[in-house]
Order: sequence, then structure tokens, then C-alpha cells
Amino acid sequence: MFAVHLLAFHFTKLKEDQITKVDRFLHQLRLSDDVLQDVAARFQAEMLKGLARDTNPTAAVKMLPSFVRSLPDGSEKGEFLAVDLGGSQLRAHQVRVSDDGKQSSQLESKFYPTPKEVTQGNGAELFDYIADCLSDFMDTRNLKQKKLPLGFTFSFPCKQTKLDEGVLLEWTKHFRVRGVQGTDVVSSLHRALQKHQDIDVDVLALVNDTVGTMMTCGYDDPRCEVGLIIGTGTNACYMEEMRHISLVEGDEGRMCINTEWGAFGDDGALDDLRTEFDRELDLGSLNPGKQLFEKMISSLYLGELVRLILLKMTKEGLLFNGKVSAALLTKGKIEMKHVSAMEKYKEGLSNTREILTELKLFPSEEDCVAVQHVCTIVSFRSANLCAAALAAILTRLRDNKKLLRMRTTVGIDGGLYKTHPRRLHPSTTRVPAGLALSPRAQLQHPASPKCLWGETPHIQIAKVSVGMRAELEYGLKREAQGQATVKMLPTYVCGMPDGTEKGKFLALDLGGTNFRVLLVKIKSGRRRSVQMYNKIFAIPLEIMQGTGEELFDHIVQCIADFLDYMGIKGARLPLGFTFSFPCRQTSIDKGTLVGWTKGFKATDCEGEDVVDMLREAIRRRNEFDLDIVAVVNDTVGTMMTCGYEDPNCEIGLIAGTVVAKWPLREGSTYVEYEKMTSGMYLGEIVREILIDLTKQGLLFRGHISESLRKRGIFETKFLSQIESFSRILQETVKELAPQCDVTFMLSEDGSGKGAALITAVAKRLHNVGQK
Ligand code: GLC
Repeated sequence: MFAVHLLAFHFTKLKEDQITKVDRFLHQLRLSDDVLQDVAARFQAEMLKGLARDTNPTAAVKMLPSFVRSLPDGSEKGEFLAVDLGGSQLRAHQVRVSDDGKQSSQLESKFYPTPKEVTQGNGAELFDYIADCLSDFMDTRNLKQKKLPLGFTFSFPCKQTKLDEGVLLEWTKHFRVRGVQGTDVVSSLHRALQKHQDIDVDVLALVNDTVGTMMTCGYDDPRCEVGLIIGTGTNACYMEEMRHISLVEGDEGRMCINTEWGAFGDDGALDDLRTEFDRELDLGSLNPGKQLFEKMISSLYLGELVRLILLKMTKEGLLFNGKVSAALLTKGKIEMKHVSAMEKYKEGLSNTREILTELKLFPSEEDCVAVQHVCTIVSFRSANLCAAALAAILTRLRDNKKLLRMRTTVGIDGGLYKTHPRRLHPSTTRVPAGLALSPRAQLQHPASPKCLWGETPHIQIAKVSVGMRAELEYGLKREAQGQATVKMLPTYVCGMPDGTEKGKFLALDLGGTNFRVLLVKIKSGRRRSVQMYNKIFAIPLEIMQGTGEELFDHIVQCIADFLDYMGIKGARLPLGFTFSFPCRQTSIDKGTLVGWTKGFKATDCEGEDVVDMLREAIRRRNEFDLDIVAVVNDTVGTMMTCGYEDPNCEIGLIAGTVVAKWPLREGSTYVEYEKMTSGMYLGEIVREILIDLTKQGLLFRGHISESLRKRGIFETKFLSQIESFSRILQETVKELAPQCDVTFMLSEDGSGKGAALITAVAKRLHNVGQK
């Protein structure tokens, strides 16, 4: 034990030392809140400079009018083609948009490589290549006979005078194609397409990827008015008031401006923040002196930045025993994918070791920790710089609208944002002005600012855990009975199965989705096994909500059916009754219903002993007799079933139609905690949230559809596809109770098998008692 502690201490110390060392070395890359506010202010000033006609020619941030004046309004329809050039690959898309009331779009895409001959060759070859890819795509999609309009996403700064014309101002990122700068790229593409006799496409619009992103998100969310890319390059666009755009005639309405923020700092505006590594990276790039902001942020450059930092640290003897490898000296050897892998939450350190070893650097434990921290600092600065410029745009939008508080949506795309383990997110990024980010995110929810800025979910969950523990303890006290919200009901189940149980048992299961009757055959000894036969019966709503007598008569009718079906009507078998509602028990076969839950409402049951009610119904029918041994909650059945396999099992938990009856509120018909967690209610909670967001105009263009109005449209099975409930449950438990080593075992039919096992154990103990 001591050794383990010593090791843990050693590792913590090692980590602290390395982190301090790197922090000290890279202090210039760590930007304080004040600095970031200042960056936002500088970017605000740059935007103004770019927007005004007389200062635009010398402005670094070009603020290019896109001639996109409105966002989609949902009435769009038809079939379109798109080609997208500017990221790591060339992409061709077929988009089908329908306005059949469902407002849906379909997208089919194909990716094509962009080798160096294409990105750094000559213009004619580039456009021929794009036309060839498009022709191939139309071939694979069987579209050659159609005349289709085409959108050309060309993610480079272009001066547009209309939607279907754009003169390339400058190549950026990894592109440097001869003979294109200063020419209209739409007509070049048009010319290349004309060489293909077998296709007929009409290039209708030239679009920057930021604008495409804003439009795509705008199709789903009318509030979207900013588009942001954080991928190979970085850039943003937003809707600006026409009256502020002096480069375009007219004052009415708005137009989307492609800021081309990647060039922020090209006039020296960020020189005080750029480090020797930024300068070195720039000097070795395709376009020295250009896109300086982009070079601090986007994925094309972060790997190289990390490499330059590691190289310098090694040369100064701070890493790898001062031994530089040939790989570390080679430009481009560290890429963004490596940085991401090294920063991964769990595997990060082992990835780091692997990557460094491949670079022939022979890293020690200390080296790995330090290198990982270098990656973190570089990524963190990237996210923070992006956030600062975005905050400037958001502040501008808010000022334009003369609002004190503003709600808006930012459409975001780009590989770095989507795949980097540390996302640009409010928890890792500081966005001034009370704004928070998420992909396609709605910004600033005034009703629940706490969610964003207050307690972290961890603290909230830890509080629930502490609160629950207090409730559990209170519920156990004699004086609490009747008042405790968490009832802590004794079950009179005192022993676990010991493997000697055997015989035939009946089990009833009421309280799940259906009512079931089961025959359970338990064998002990070497042929130890449990065999089950069951029949499922629906309980009609009028019976669930009729009188208690009707309910129990129906139950007995189902039992009679089952006994008939199994041919065992004469046998007086011991029976366990799984009754999954809160019951106050005074013995194992007596349970008074405290209150119905889960939609049951039968009258004259609450406060009554359900075993008595069942016995009376059997008597009324007067056809057979049963030996009711135990009344069981499904959680107890579950614990017993698992206990039969694993003697260490001592907790039973249900997270299905219902979670174990924890805080039951006296006097209220529903169980509140249960509503937040159980399958039966989760779908409804999701539906309510969607309705609420739609009412606020944040979803579905503010239109609440008929189906959304229908109760129960979201079944739990859909929700479980969205999130892995069990993973979250298990990981959170591990975090909150780190001292407990818990095995989570899926119970096989706790309600059926468990009831039989409880009955068997009760019989065994009873016999022992009698002896
Ligand atoms: C570069 C381009 C810009 C593009 C961005 C993201 O910054 O200049 O037009 O939007 O990369 O792809």
C-alpha cells in the first residue's frame, strides 16, 4: 500500500515539475483574460477598417461582401450540385431539398484527393481536375442526363461583385496554384466544365465555406447568423447591416460578410503576441507574412508549431536529454492528428510515448508529460484566440441590433473543431460578453445561465450524491417514517440464494410494461440451473385505472390462463409476487401499497395489503389456490437474481420503466426523481424541452408540428441510441465513489427469476426455522 502511495506521489510530483517547466518556457503562449479582451477589441477595430470604403484597401481583414442577403427560409426545394475546394480534400455533393412540409434535405457526397500537383500546379490543370471530379461524381450518381445548378464552395478570399463571380485575391493554406490570383474563378470553372460534352451544369453561386456553413445551419435554425470554420484554415462570416457596408450599394437589409479573419495581424496588429515559434513557422510557410492569425489557430499549422517548440526545448536540454533526432528536425513531421492523439483524455500519454518513439526521440516519463503539456498549451491558445475574435463579431452583431442581451446561433464546421479532444467550448475557452459556444450552438440561454457559468455538472452531481446519502440515512430512522422522501422500505428479505434452492415456483410480475406470469424451475447441485416459462398479458388502460377489484380479478384471470396453458392448474405452487410499486411491508408476504406510480390508478388499493387483495381475488374466482410466499420489489428481485450468480451482489438497481423508488414525495402522485431518470419519462422530458425551444423560436423555425404535440413519440430506445446511459452511469459512479470497486452485472429477468428465488430462499429459511 505504501509503495502505491509513494508511486502516486512520485507521479504527481513528476507531473507538476514538468508542467511548471513547460509553463515557464511557453509563458508567452499563455494569454490572460485581459489579453484576450484586448485581442477582441483589436479585431473589432479591424472589422471597421475592412468595412469602410476608404480604409478597406489597406485593411488586413478584408471583410468581403458575399452577396448572400438572406438565410434559407424553408421554402427552398430542388436538386443541386456542389463542389467544395479548400479543405484537405475536394468534395462533390448532390443535395436534394424538399419543401413537402417536412423541410428535409438529403446529401450524397464523394471525396477526391488534392495532391500537390493540384494544389501547387497551374490554374488550367486545377480547374480541369475539378471538372473531371464533378463529371465522375455525376457518373456515379447517375446524373449525367440532368441539367443541374451548381454551387462552388471555394474557400479562399475572393472579391465578389455578384453571387456568381469572384476574383481570387490570394491563395491561402496549402494552395499556391499559378495563374489564378486576380482572375474570376467561376468563369475558369465554367470553361473547364464546357470541355465535358456529356454534362450540363450551371455554376450559380460562388460561396466561401464559412458562408456555406452559416447557410446550412440557418436551414435548421433561423437564428443562425454567424458561420465559423476551424479546420485546415480558420475564418468566420456573419450577417452585417447593409448600411455599414460601404463597398456595396444600398442601405436596406443585411448581407453576409466573409471576414477572412485568417489575415488578422498581417499588418502587424498581433506582433506583440506572436512568439519566435510563430515567426519561424511563418518563414517556412508557402505564404510568409500572410494569414498570421490563421497560423496561430488552424490545423494546418499547429503540428508544426509543436515541432518547433519541442526542437527548441530539446536544444536547450529541457527534453530528451538534449538529443535531437533527424525526424524532429524535419519540417511537417508532427501533424495535427498527432497533437490530437497526444492530448486524448485517457490514451494521451501512451499515444505521446508512441509518437515520440516513432520520431526516434527515446522519451522518458517526464518527456511524455512535458510534450503532452506543450500540445495542450498550443491548442488552448488556438481555441482562445478563435473565441476572442468570435466574441468581437458577436459584440458587433449585438451592437448592430442595439440589444443589451442577444441570443444567436453560430454554425461551426472544420476538422479541428469537430475532432480535437479539447473542443472549443466554454469550459476550455473564455468567450467574453457572457457568450458560450457549441456546434450549431445556441448562444446564451438567459433562463439558465447557471448551466453555462455556474456550478459544473460534476459539482451538481456530487451534491445530488451527498443529498441522496443524507436522505437514505434519514429514511432508515424510526422517527422519519411517513415523512422521509426516500422511503427506505424494509423488504424482509434477509438471506441471499446459496445455490441449494430447488423446486418449481410461480412468479407474477406487475409494474413493468406488461403483466407477466412465470413458471420457474430451479435445480440445485451439479445440475444447477434455472428454467423459466412465461406468458405476457397486456393490462388495458381501463383496468389500470378502474377499481382495485377489477385489477386483481384481471390478474387472477391471467394466472388461470397461464396455469391452463402450462397444464398445472391443480398444483399448489409457492408464488412470489413482484409488485414494483412502493409498498410498506410488515413481513415478507404482506405489503401495503403506499401510492401508485407509472400510470396505475386503480381505486381502493392505496393503503391496502396487495397480497390480501390478490388472495381475495383468487378466492372470488374459486378455481385454484396459490401459496403466496413473498411480495417483492423488482429491485430486490434483480439483486437476488444477480446474487444467485455472484455471491458478492448486494445492490439491486432498475433503470427501465422506472428507477428504484427513491425520493417519493408524500402527497404527490408522481415520483419526482424517477421522472428525471426513468425510461418512461425521459422521452417526455425530451419532448417538452423540444417544444420549449421551438416556442422560443430556436428550433424548427418556431413551428411545433402535430407529431411533436403527441405524447409518447420519443421512445426510450431512441434515446438510448443517442447516449450510452450505462457508460455514463458507471463512469459517474466511479468518479463519485472512487473508493468502491463496483461490478455492474446485468440481471437476467430480475422480476421473474428474482421473485422465484426470493420465494425459494424464504421457503428454505422458513424450513430451517421450523426445524
Ligand atoms: C482560409 C481561407 C478562407 C477559408 C478558411 C477556412 O482562411 O482564406 O477563405 O474560409 O481558410 O477554410
